[in-house]
Amino acid sequence: MKTLEEYADAEGRETARQVPLLDLRAQYRQIESEVRKAIDSVIERQQFIMGPEVLELENVIAKLCETNFAVACASGTDALLLSLKLLDMKPGDEVITTPFTFFATAGAIHNSGGKVVFVDVDPETLLIDVSQVEDAVGRNTRAIVPVHLYGQMAAMDELLRVIGESEIRIVEDAAQAIGARRMIDGQWKMAGSMGTTGVLSFFPSKNLGGWGDGGMVVTQEESLAKRLRKLRTHGGMKRYYHEEVGTNSRLDSIQAAVLKVKVGYLDAWLDARRYNAALYDEMLVNVEGVTICRTDAGNEHSFHQYTIRAERRDDLENFLKEKGIGTGVYFPIPLHLQTCFAYLGYEKGQLPVAEAAAAEVLSLPVYPELSVDDIEYVAECVASFYR
Ligand SMILES: Cc1ncc(COP(=O)(O)O)c(C=O)c1O
Repeated sequence: MKTLEEYADAEGRETARQVPLLDLRAQYRQIESEVRKAIDSVIERQQFIMGPEVLELENVIAKLCETNFAVACASGTDALLLSLKLLDMKPGDEVITTPFTFFATAGAIHNSGGKVVFVDVDPETLLIDVSQVEDAVGRNTRAIVPVHLYGQMAAMDELLRVIGESEIRIVEDAAQAIGARRMIDGQWKMAGSMGTTGVLSFFPSKNLGGWGDGGMVVTQEESLAKRLRKLRTHGGMKRYYHEEVGTNSRLDSIQAAVLKVKVGYLDAWLDARRYNAALYDEMLVNVEGVTICRTDAGNEHSFHQYTIRAERRDDLENFLKEKGIGTGVYFPIPLHLQTCFAYLGYEKGQLPVAEAAAAEVLSLPVYPELSVDDIEYVAECVASFYR
């Protein structure tokens, strides 16, 4: 590996090099002609809402996630909300989730009429701590929403054991984890395939991202898929007849056309992300001041984010910025401490693992198009900060 000085140009400028957190233009160059053709065909047909591309994409994603059904909608947030609406929440119904996630997870629980119950995360993986879920389950528990954070599946096998034969439902928040898998009883299980429903996001920066907002719910149950299709079109399948109150949450044909092209590359992109993550693991494992988030045994991570826990995180972030390196903090404030959830009565110090993580996590560039040299440069900059 080169030293930082060796990365400098002839005039001694190191920062001529730029490694952004994500470079979607590099991906675009790979798929440009295919996507443009796909979009052109939508334009020619002039069917912009729920065209045939949407149904085709649903079939492809259901196959990929190994579920019987997939229902497209307008965003990952809506996929969560529609999933939770299936549960017909009654006053007092509780939904257990993690505070260490994107806001949408808990926001959707609130908006579906459920009471959010936060439990802490595991200190090594930052995934929901199943033993704390077990302690939190009570008479009012209606559902659990585990989050497959950064692209790594929560312990679905253990969560299913916790709910046993009860009526409690599991909504998998797989917004960050399309294509991730977990080995359970000798079989690979896909993210999203084990819960009552699984939720996907096609936000542009996701591992499978559209050119705008988009989302999908996957499920094994036909009755749920049917109801989801109704809920996303104002609660009825026949125009002007509404069996229940739904909403407008559909996927545009153009988004489906883009995603249909991109999904063909997903396996290769995920492999490249895993390769890049393994390089970082090797290069950072002995750097004092850095702790690598653990991949749980049996998990095949999809590395939506490659995240370390870093001493003096904010200083490291600024140092890397000066070196031309983009980073991200996911997430700086755990959700139990958000102003809008003050009514739930959580206090600082109550979920200490999530709170500590919020002050330490830093995501490094891990996107598929990075070169080995880019990764060595990032790792060397991190190491040099602590030397
Ligand atoms: C864990 C998690 N849940 C839900 C969402 C919401 O997805 P969207 O941005 O498509 O609404 C996101 C997206 O950022 C996410 O990361």
